[in-house]
Amino acid sequence: MTNSRDAHGGFPAVRARRLRATPAWRRLTAETRLHAADLVLPMFVREGTTQPLPISSMPGIHQHSLDSLRAELNRAAGAGIGGVMLFGVPEHKDATGSGATDPDGILNVATRIAAEEVGDSLVVQTDLCLDEFTDHGHCGVLDPHGGVDNDATLERYREMALVQADSGSQLVGLSGMMDGQTAAVRDALDSAGFAGTATLAYAAKYASAFYGPFREAVQSSLQGDRRTYQLDPANRREGLREAALDIAEGADIVMVKPAMSYLDVLADTAALSPVPVWAYQVSGEYAMIEAAAAHGWIDRERAIDESLTSIRRAGADAILTYWAVEAAERWSRA
Ligand code: PBG
Repeated sequence: MTNSRDAHGGFPAVRARRLRATPAWRRLTAETRLHAADLVLPMFVREGTTQPLPISSMPGIHQHSLDSLRAELNRAAGAGIGGVMLFGVPEHKDATGSGATDPDGILNVATRIAAEEVGDSLVVQTDLCLDEFTDHGHCGVLDPHGGVDNDATLERYREMALVQADSGSQLVGLSGMMDGQTAAVRDALDSAGFAGTATLAYAAKYASAFYGPFREAVQSSLQGDRRTYQLDPANRREGLREAALDIAEGADIVMVKPAMSYLDVLADTAALSPVPVWAYQVSGEYAMIEAAAAHGWIDRERAIDESLTSIRRAGADAILTYWAVEAAERWSRA
């Protein structure tokens, strides 16, 4: 025990403030640092548009055209971030999400462009899920009773994985929360000669209200919710179990999502995982900070950096964030 008074009766004996006294001290003693290389930018690419279209609930973020995608990819590479995660917004949706496995579907076209433009400097990643492509908006195909059919969905994911890998995706993001999806996709990739394509398992993906703005971003037609496949926000142990299952199924990286409301799950997973642990700072987390800052209620840049620092401090090796490029460019000027 430390006495709060020193030997001569003076106090306090311990002065923790010494190491916080100047910017130089604080810089030298910081435990967590932010690097551009640890950020991944999620990007939306919309079929049939020649102009980038703003997403109203995500100020500053657009649904890209193929031209604006090219420009933004090159900006991202110039900023020195680690990678991009592509999402497709197709013109036509149907019950099985057939656009997802069409080599000329928007996500696969965008992937080929990304691989060609920045495939040497960024890790090109693709969302492997059906919700952007289905007319009912669920992450899988439906059974005759309207439930999401796990095993029929796995067959679709296997087909998607092959088209995405063939288009140049280096890391497929398994975000659908179907049981066995990592093993199913790994097997499909290995059997088709894509052993080098990595898998990112959205291991602990919660049924979250913070995905709200994303639904606008991909023009989701979802009625109802995803609670039969995404995790209950009440459950911490279950998040760890999902991460363990995905690691056992061969996931190269596991993800916790959303980030800020799930820092406990992130810290637990980071403590146990033998593979990298990433976190996704989702659309609603972005929108909350942007909206409060637009009102002048918080300091925007400080809030962004504090949120990213918290996620790193909790144990994320890399972060998917819509601020990736902006933050990287700002840090390089600082
Ligand atoms: C599923 C997917 C979602 C997000 C990423 N991948 C939506 C969902 O599961 O409901 C949300 C990302 C965000 O909110 O930023 N394809």
